Amino acid sequence: MKALLLTEYNKLAIADEPKPEPAPDELLIQVAACGICGSDVHGYDGSTGRRIPPIIMGHEAAGTVVATGSVVNDFRAGDRVTFDSTVYCGVCEFCRAGQINLCDNRQVIGVSCAEFRRAGAFAEFIVVPARIAYKLPDSFSFPDAAMLEAVSVALHGVAVSGINGEESVLVIGAGMIGLLLLQAARAAGASRVFISDIDATRLKLAAELGADATIEASGASLVNEMLRRTNGLGVDVVLEAVGRDETITTGIDCVRKGGTVTLVGNISPQVTLPLQKVVSRQIRLQGSCASSGEYPEAIEFISTGTIKVAPLITAIAPLSDGPSWFDRLHAREPNLMKIVLDPQRISIAEEVIQP
Ligand SMILES: NC(=O)c1ccc[n+]([C@@H]2O[C@H](COP(=O)([O-])OP(=O)(O)OC[C@H]3O[C@@H](n4cnc5c(N)ncnc54)[C@H](O)[C@@H]3O)[C@@H](O)[C@H]2O)c1
Ligand SMILES: [Zn+2]
Ligand SMILES: [Zn+2]
Repeated sequence: MKALLLTEYNKLAIADEPKPEPAPDELLIQVAACGICGSDVHGYDGSTGRRIPPIIMGHEAAGTVVATGSVVNDFRAGDRVTFDSTVYCGVCEFCRAGQINLCDNRQVIGVSCAEFRRAGAFAEFIVVPARIAYKLPDSFSFPDAAMLEAVSVALHGVAVSGINGEESVLVIGAGMIGLLLLQAARAAGASRVFISDIDATRLKLAAELGADATIEASGASLVNEMLRRTNGLGVDVVLEAVGRDETITTGIDCVRKGGTVTLVGNISPQVTLPLQKVVSRQIRLQGSCASSGEYPEAIEFISTGTIKVAPLITAIAPLSDGPSWFDRLHAREPNLMKIVLDPQRISIAEEVIQP
């Protein structure tokens, strides 16, 4: 099969790889769409150590089942499916409690690190355990399905924040995750959702996706603006989707006494904490990791249009255009959101330029 292989750091190539065989509990899936995640771009240059070459990356995917392992009963060839990026064991204490994102033996599709190596979905075919797969409605497009992983992350962030109606919310960062957190908070019933970023183009999209107000500011000017809009109290919940020192401190300053700051962004491995503010104002700092069981709700919300993902897809491109898209994302070209690769297509150039 053809696959997009990270052969060495900063080097991707279309390679011929052996087509995988499903184990007894696995599905063999013909991949129709796979999104490029920020973590793939950060792994590509070796900075995270989570994509040790050679590796086929890609964990935001959807496609069609072509074969099933001997003990799989819930799926059959022809089923249109997506799958979780987390491969959980199903037997540890956390899995048994339904906290599959916290599994003691957690692996991630398309990741290679010191502990494990799992081929991802930038390939014509992939095998995944049937327990992580979900069936898609017929009307659901494959590129939209490649967004389900990120939508589930956002729904989980909102769920652990305890947003269930009438709260005022500030989302910090209007990137991919922030724009989905905004829509997920809305869907959960938040009364007002504000969103901030330092990039005006991102905020324009946020306004189109239903933000009550977009605030192009950070630091003290954002805090002043949020206090002004909440009678000096601060918002009930801050959803932090950048993950830097400054934005986390600002988030703590924007929340009301007794409120919650949910940390979804994780770019910086370490930040400083304004400890006395957190303690004396009794603020809850809540981490949020991946998702645990939000896929069915994500499918429902996209199907009904409650959460819109099409405006977040910048391009749907053939797998063979992967290397150039990775270069452009790595160079932080402006105005790029989600790039979805289609492993069933090779570029027209490669198709027609034959000797
Ligand atoms: N917890 C999880 O499970 C999980 C899952 C996916 C991503 N993430 C993390 O979420 C974060 C966001 O991911 P993304 O894919 O949306 O990234 P992104 O690059 O699309 O978005 C980041 C946004 O932050 C904005 N930004 C940067 N500095 C800012 C500042 N000082 N003030 C306000 N905005 C600022 C950028 O302009 C951009 O719009 C990352 O840290 C990522 O690692 C966490
Ligand atoms: Zn991802
Ligand atoms: Zn487990």
